[in-house]
Amino acid sequence: MRVTDTSDLWWKTAVVYCLDVETYMDWNGDGCGDLEGLAHRLDYLAELGVTCIWLMPFYPSPDRDDGYDITDYYGVDARLGHHGDLVEVIRTAKDRGMRVIADLVVNHTSDQHPWFVSARSSRESPFRDFYVWADEPPAKQPEPVFPDQEDSLWEYDKKTKQYYLHNFYKHQPDLNVANPRVREEIAKVIGFWMELGISGFRVDAVPFFIEQPGFEGPHDYLRSLRSYIGRRSGEGVLLGEVNLPYEDQLKYFGGLDADDELTMQFDFVGMQQIYLSLAREDATPLADTLAARPALPEVAQWANFLRNHDELTLDKLTEDERQEVFDAFAPEERMQVYGRGIVRRLPPMLHGDPRRIRMAYSLLFSLPGTPVLFYGEEIGMGENLDLPGRTSVRSPMQWTSGANGGFSKADPEDLVAPVTGDGFAPSHVNASQQRHDEGSLLNFIRLLIQCYRNSPEIGWGRFTVLEQPDRAVLAHQIENGQGRLVALHNFAPEPATVRLELEDVEPGTVVTSLLDADEYTWPEEGPFEQPLDGYGYRWLRVIRPGDQRLT
Ligand code: BGC
Repeated sequence: MRVTDTSDLWWKTAVVYCLDVETYMDWNGDGCGDLEGLAHRLDYLAELGVTCIWLMPFYPSPDRDDGYDITDYYGVDARLGHHGDLVEVIRTAKDRGMRVIADLVVNHTSDQHPWFVSARSSRESPFRDFYVWADEPPAKQPEPVFPDQEDSLWEYDKKTKQYYLHNFYKHQPDLNVANPRVREEIAKVIGFWMELGISGFRVDAVPFFIEQPGFEGPHDYLRSLRSYIGRRSGEGVLLGEVNLPYEDQLKYFGGLDADDELTMQFDFVGMQQIYLSLAREDATPLADTLAARPALPEVAQWANFLRNHDELTLDKLTEDERQEVFDAFAPEERMQVYGRGIVRRLPPMLHGDPRRIRMAYSLLFSLPGTPVLFYGEEIGMGENLDLPGRTSVRSPMQWTSGANGGFSKADPEDLVAPVTGDGFAPSHVNASQQRHDEGSLLNFIRLLIQCYRNSPEIGWGRFTVLEQPDRAVLAHQIENGQGRLVALHNFAPEPATVRLELEDVEPGTVVTSLLDADEYTWPEEGPFEQPLDGYGYRWLRVIRPGDQRLT
């Protein structure tokens, strides 16, 4: 697809911020975050430079999987507020230049969804074939997604004497997407939220959702969803959770030429290689992976991230590599989950070392694609390992050093989740203090966002890894017609020297270091050399004659 008006493609240069309303800001003092609280924090997000808020599920739910178990696709969980509050959030966000996207969880419903309640009441239920039933589970099954909780993907229903499919928990029966009535319902749900001003969806568990037994043409279906969204709104995006190898992910974009399925996908493979590189203090694993990452069609985009609300999955690493990362960042068993993941946030994994933490975020914002932050990352929140499994990283946002980290006025025992303690407690880590501290992580992330937004080549440009003599250093270049950015990152604690040999740069060209405004001149002869501190990072804009952008 040839794009002529690039300004429409807002997701190519967006800054996405994921939050769970329930743990973000409690305005009515009941201990549970709410939409009104979020509305009061939109200026904070705008100030940070966020351009797109991704709301984790806010629908009515028995909350057995943090809201990913939905009982009403058209509702708003009453603890969070009502539709009016949500519309206020969407409208105010738009007013501040931010779009709102929502989780679309249609691989499964809660087992308490009225469709499933009816479906399991009798084989004659009009909703029976909204779900996937079998007399016997298949002899060969893949390993369950949550192996500590489930030992099969099929659960026996005593009353109707058949098994139903559940790729996730048994209380999350899979919807039968092969049924056209289910597909119609999904379209209505999408249409409903878009009418309310939602700019698209983070689509949960896409391969599980579309690749179902007996469903012909899953990719035709994804294509039809994309074009439906496009008909409803030109700005609608589908940001897919597809944790598969790159060559398979390409199919979920619709292939190199078509570009007509998912608009964006998270880069799970690249994320895992970042951690391997950090663990080894060697940039090579990431450099090799990025070099092999498929270039995408023009409209599509990678969504880069360091952490999300789930476990930090290491499922795409080899057994030995995974162990290396566990040894470095999650040496205790309670820090690991499902034999494949880590239930920690980034700063504690990096032992709170500010140089290393900043290097990691500098890397995130300089990688080709669109960066995604999980709430609290901007202030360096830690996890609470007293909470079970993945919930350890879902503690309340830390706003102030006061009671409950300023999240809520309720009694601590009434909070939806306890606030993190110890070294990462609100007394040490909170947004208010950091807003007033020039040297804080929050202000550093704000600077990164500024530089990222000023460097549209990061979202749009051609990407090359520049070979380096020092394995600890990743040097990468991104350029488009308008500009060229060279980013340098040192994964090791020892200082390094970077050497750049770029044939098409004229001697005497000015090079500006964007994060600290230093200026250099490209030498008359030989390579351009730059010292990098241990865990150092630098963004260099190679200024072209006539380049009028801010540095
Ligand atoms: C979400 C998880 C959730 C699962 C089942 C995912 O991939 O990110 O948090 O448990 O889908 O809905």
